[in-house]
Amino acid sequence: MSQSTARALQSPAPPRQAEHVDLRPDVSQAHVRFIGLGKTYPGQSQPALQGIDLNIRRGEIFGIIGRSGAGKSSLLRVINRLEQPTQGRVLIDQADIARYDEEALVALRRNIGMIFQHFNLMSAKTVWQNVELPLKVAGVAKAQRQRKVRELLQLVGLEDKHHVYPAQLSGGQKQRVGIA
Ligand SMILES: Nc1ncnc2c1ncn2[C@@H]1O[C@H](COP(=O)(O)OP(=O)(O)O)[C@@H](O)[C@H]1O
Ligand SMILES: [Mg+2]
Repeated sequence: MSQSTARALQSPAPPRQAEHVDLRPDVSQAHVRFIGLGKTYPGQSQPALQGIDLNIRRGEIFGIIGRSGAGKSSLLRVINRLEQPTQGRVLIDQADIARYDEEALVALRRNIGMIFQHFNLMSAKTVWQNVELPLKVAGVAKAQRQRKVRELLQLVGLEDKHHVYPAQLSGGQKQRVGIA
């Protein structure tokens, strides 16, 4: 028996990383987890959210549907603490985000893409400048910013609109700038 065969019999090679990738891990491994979540806005008698227990797995595509005023936006906004819950907890990768300090919160928000219903575009800035702004704020160097903005506008099919202002775009085009 050669030395390498002997070694293989004693300790099998560890499985390759790819064999460990599990897109449906069990609930304790939930990516986003709401536990007894509730939210009552100041001055409101009715809660916007109540008793929400929900686990969302990594890689899962999860839709939230409900009537206008049902609390969909409120639920989304507690994921990155744009809103504070008044009851319960939000865990992201097992960590309670209520305990995040300012720095961790900034990192969390940077990692969560949010596309707002009302676009939230700057009307006095061009399409290019709108997409560039968050990169500027994050301190990304100019050359890298330009590469990224070009790439993102290409991704959403708006390269030819880079110089126009939001008012000159259709609703769908504004939404795509928001996505970029
Ligand atoms: N900032 C706020 N202050 C007070 N009440 C709010 C606020 N935001 C939402 N609400 C109330 O909370 C409830 C849920 O709202 P929302 O989460 O926006 O619902 P949805 O997105 O499903 O339409 C509604 O009754 C709404 O009036
Ligand atoms: Mg809403």
